[in-house]
Amino acid sequence: MAEFTHFYELFQPSHYNLYIDINRETKTISGQSIITGEAKDTAIAIHQKYLTINSVKVADQAVPFAVDNDQDAINVTLPNAGKVTVVIDYTAPLTDTMMGIYPSYYELDGVKKQLIGTQFETNAARQAFPCVDEPEAKATFDVAIKFDEHEGETVLGNMPEIKTENGVHYFDTTVRMSTYLIAFAFGDMRAKETTTKSGVKIGVFATKAHKANELDFALDIAKRSIEFYEDFYQTPYPLPHSWQLALPDFSAGAMENWGLVTYREACLLIDPDNTSLGVKQYVATVIAHELAHQWFGDLVTMKWWDDLWLNESFANMMEYVAIDALEPDWHIWEVFQTSEAPAALQRDATDGVQSVHVQVEDPAEIDSLFDGAIVYAKGARLLVMVRALIGDDALRAGLKNYFTKHQYGNATGADLWSALGAAANLDVGSIMSSWLEQPGYPVVTAAVVDSQLTLNQKQFFVGAGQDVGRQWQVPLNSNYAVAPKIFSDETIVLGDYQQLRKENGVPFRVNVGNDSHFIVKYDDVLMHDILNDVTNLSAIDQLQILQDQRLLAEGRQISYASVVPLLLQFADSQSNIVNTALYRVANDLKKFVAPDSVEEESLKTLFNQLSAAQVTRLGWLPKAGESNDDQLTRPYVLVAALYAENPDSIAAAHDLFVAHQNELSSLPADIRPYVLRNEVQHFGNAKLFDQLLTAYQTTSDSSYQSGLSAAITSTSDAALIAQLIEKFEDADTIKPQDLRGWFYRLLANKDGQQAAWDWIRNRWGWLQETVGGDMEFTTYITVIANVFHTPQRLAEFKEFFEPKLNTPGLTREITMDTKVIETRVDLVESEKDDVNAAIAQLTI
Ligand code: BES
Ligand code: ZN
Repeated sequence: MAEFTHFYELFQPSHYNLYIDINRETKTISGQSIITGEAKDTAIAIHQKYLTINSVKVADQAVPFAVDNDQDAINVTLPNAGKVTVVIDYTAPLTDTMMGIYPSYYELDGVKKQLIGTQFETNAARQAFPCVDEPEAKATFDVAIKFDEHEGETVLGNMPEIKTENGVHYFDTTVRMSTYLIAFAFGDMRAKETTTKSGVKIGVFATKAHKANELDFALDIAKRSIEFYEDFYQTPYPLPHSWQLALPDFSAGAMENWGLVTYREACLLIDPDNTSLGVKQYVATVIAHELAHQWFGDLVTMKWWDDLWLNESFANMMEYVAIDALEPDWHIWEVFQTSEAPAALQRDATDGVQSVHVQVEDPAEIDSLFDGAIVYAKGARLLVMVRALIGDDALRAGLKNYFTKHQYGNATGADLWSALGAAANLDVGSIMSSWLEQPGYPVVTAAVVDSQLTLNQKQFFVGAGQDVGRQWQVPLNSNYAVAPKIFSDETIVLGDYQQLRKENGVPFRVNVGNDSHFIVKYDDVLMHDILNDVTNLSAIDQLQILQDQRLLAEGRQISYASVVPLLLQFADSQSNIVNTALYRVANDLKKFVAPDSVEEESLKTLFNQLSAAQVTRLGWLPKAGESNDDQLTRPYVLVAALYAENPDSIAAAHDLFVAHQNELSSLPADIRPYVLRNEVQHFGNAKLFDQLLTAYQTTSDSSYQSGLSAAITSTSDAALIAQLIEKFEDADTIKPQDLRGWFYRLLANKDGQQAAWDWIRNRWGWLQETVGGDMEFTTYITVIANVFHTPQRLAEFKEFFEPKLNTPGLTREITMDTKVIETRVDLVESEKDDVNAAIAQLTI
């Protein structure tokens, strides 16, 4: 068959009868897939991967078939085209890949146990049962599951169970849906349930290694999210239940299977009595993200994987829209500004980055093309831009029509633009295509040229970039009415600057609110005007100034040293996001100083200057009734004070450790990681190392675990580092799903870097075997590129990764990351003297 024919063109299933028997003891699966559909030809193809096909029958008669593993196909020859029912018997191994049907491992009261779950997106349903595994091939499904069942185990599916007969669990027939959204799970579980206003059952499920109250937060957010979306989308949730299930082993963060959403434990369960606000906000946005997909993605699905971005960027925007409605006091859009916006602006400034919309045929390629910063962060930013352009009323009206028109079917990006465009009476598609089909984004330069206020757009690069004259339709969002709504030329002259300034009474600005995907470079005159009164701007606008200046410095459009004095101007801010941006810049200065040098001494002094008053104001312990901003700011300033080796702060953290040493988990979650890290760094020994590692292995609280990991990896003791490296390959201590975090933290520790770097180079083969099939595998390379900044490491990086350039799936990441490190090394080499002089000047 021709390469990458969509199997759906030849065979269109309408209904599946699936029977799947899973044996945990023997680690085998055997099953039968009965597919009824319309064959367009007598030669059809059905997907399978890693399955052993025993027979293919039509009307009780065996029909000829051939397995083609290169195409993940069973090529079947039918007696006739037209309506047909194909019966396929198969077996498969049950493997630990976190894909298809797979076991998750956990311990309860010292006994090792497992929970079986599934992960099918993008193309692993074919590992569980033969099917036409393409998003457009929607059908209804009757699923029946059998397994080596023990008393009291729970079985979950997309739909409710309707009966159990002879140990077989039968689920109700699904609505018309895509294969990648099928899910089921079973094992010993604990549950909490409730019901929405409209009667949808909501449930949260986890292993019994978790306390019952760890499920409460998720239950509340899930319930209110479903209620929110029913109202916002003006479209009812179409299934009887919405289950949220935490799986102990999970490759991604979460997965929107229709009616049975699966999560990494850290993304669903929290200790309601001791979890930081930041973690609560994160978990809430993950749940809201997956539940946004129940409509956008599940009810209406992209026609093909080239529009996966549409699914993900939309859900990524909606998680903020929903949580902003559910928890208005959180000001969750501020988090969008400190996480998604900088991620998108950074990645998208590297030449060679992909565009949001990428043509893709080979489904194996879609995984390797999956660049989170682009697909999620940039995509969401573009949709935020659309929302700002058309407003919520048109967005909701357009979505309602979109859902009505395409429900239980498929759609493309163009279908969405036409629905939104019709509601808003605006050609959304043509504005968006400049953003979706082109990589990168512009820097808009605002300058007074010959007394005229002038704007110009040009692609912005961090590092070498080839200017090919790209232009965008830029929603300007200026505070001066004279600026156009959409700036689509290269240059525009707005008029006499002095006169405009007088008329408007405030400094000239564009991208007010930072909702558009571009950065601004003001000339000195305009920048001075803004900085004169900068602390009266909104927090987002202040953050934007810092963020844009940092990027301009990285892009070598302004000197890095000129950013340094800005820091003190913002240091007293009581806004969490201004502090996030401030400490992002401050921490970025660390790459310019060698460890333990005179320059680092000065930098530490600067950190002390920045943080001292705030540490006094906020103190170490959360105060009753304090603002969210104070809660969220505290960690930044304490971490800064500890980096500065402020003796009072070191002592205060140590005192807290001592006071809680019998029950470290009882340290307030907001500051727990830093108290633990301080202890390891200043008072650490082998005994403490063991204590923390044991706590890591025994706690069920993921946020506590991540603090423990941050502390353990901060040791400077070579013997302990060697011990830790040994644990990297011990899945009973560090689960493969969590290994990247451990590796990253050790690599970022100056005393652990060599050991971590040696480990990954020596054990690359092992790593590839263990997590190589995972679509997040390439992020091991990304984290290395986040850390390295010296010529020596750059050379070593190239020496190791260049020979791997042709490894399928790694090419793009290696190329991008080589460039990222090269650019950073260049920046450090050429700017470090000036930067250090600027730091020294502030700290004399
Ligand atoms: N559908 C995705 C997960 C996914 C994407 C699986 C592509 C396989 C291929 C899910 O909705 C998702 O986006 N999960 C995120 C968490 C989210 C809150 C950003 C993840 O796993 O990182
Ligand atoms: Zn998603």
